[in-house]
Amino acid sequence: MDLKCRCNQDCITPPDEILEKIDSRYYPCKNCPELRLKKFKPLVEQLNSNQRIDKNWGKCNCGRRHLDLVVAHILTLMQEEGIKDEKTTLRETCVPLITPAYPLNTVPYLPENSLIILSSEINTKIAKKILNEVPEVKGVLKGEIKDTVGIKDSQSNPKVYELLAGCDMRSDVVQTPYGPIFIYKYQGEIHVEFPKPLSPKISQLKRVMEKYEDPKILDCTCGPGTLGITALKGKAKKVVFNDIWYPAAFITSLNLEVNGFPVKLTNHKENLVATGKYWDVYCLDVKELGSVLNEKFDICLVDTFPGVDTNYFETSISDICGEIVII
Ligand SMILES: C[S@@+](CC[C@H](N)C(=O)[O-])C[C@H]1O[C@@H](n2cnc3c(N)ncnc32)[C@H](O)[C@@H]1O
Ligand SMILES: [Zn+2]
Ligand SMILES: [Zn+2]
Repeated sequence: MDLKCRCNQDCITPPDEILEKIDSRYYPCKNCPELRLKKFKPLVEQLNSNQRIDKNWGKCNCGRRHLDLVVAHILTLMQEEGIKDEKTTLRETCVPLITPAYPLNTVPYLPENSLIILSSEINTKIAKKILNEVPEVKGVLKGEIKDTVGIKDSQSNPKVYELLAGCDMRSDVVQTPYGPIFIYKYQGEIHVEFPKPLSPKISQLKRVMEKYEDPKILDCTCGPGTLGITALKGKAKKVVFNDIWYPAAFITSLNLEVNGFPVKLTNHKENLVATGKYWDVYCLDVKELGSVLNEKFDICLVDTFPGVDTNYFETSISDICGEIVII
């Protein structure tokens, strides 16, 4: 599988490179300026009237800027274009989505191309201006954070955030008991999920897996593949991934590859010989899995969006699963 991003840039960084800088990427160097802004107070009340905010404003020699200063720069451009007024605070500016993202103890200092922003008020002209003038921003999406991107259930219409400028490929570094995994996503097509230091979903998966020697697992609503990839990093002998939403199935294949489980489209036996494990990805409604997969799994993971009735999922897979785990 091709690990090049749609935008043809190097948006997919090898895991080793991400891990190498994990403790330094977002923490200030000894010269990083201590310029503090309040998030809940209008920005204009915190700046001198002659202050000109540009890409060098508050930037350290190490090439990075505090996230709040980057957002202040974005807000200033939005105010110049009239989509935000004088009362707007940093908090109300946009949703900042960092890449690569992992839990931090402090607000990050951002290098270039490390931020995707989400805003419901933005338009293409301003998005392009932000992308050109704010070096930390790599992509601008239009949408509401409260909207769930993707397909909620088989009755719902798909929803996406619109990419107005740049590229929306970003990654999360997820800590698992079996080592870190790297979950990439085109953020306009996959729901936003902020990584936690200890994911309750992954702890639940670990507890269930411990009951088996080398379980066969069906991740029937895999999203970008977090749970199934965790299982493969652990003791799972076989994981079948599935999601009704094509962008999720596609990105799961990419994430498998990134995490050392390349998807051989023609010969799965090769995976088996190389690793003693088997994995595969489907893009089907959960109700079709029983007739397509001619085998039984020890564990089936059902991880739906909040508020979705899981009954439909449970009855769809009850014949092919020993144990159904509702995440
Ligand atoms: C909460 S997300 C899964 C997140 C994933 N387990 C993870 O941790 O990365 C729920 C997923 O269910 C999928 N889904 C919704 N209805 C489905 C259906 N009828 N069949 C299969 N997948 C479905 C959605 O497309 C979405 O990707
Ligand atoms: Zn890209
Ligand atoms: Zn610095």
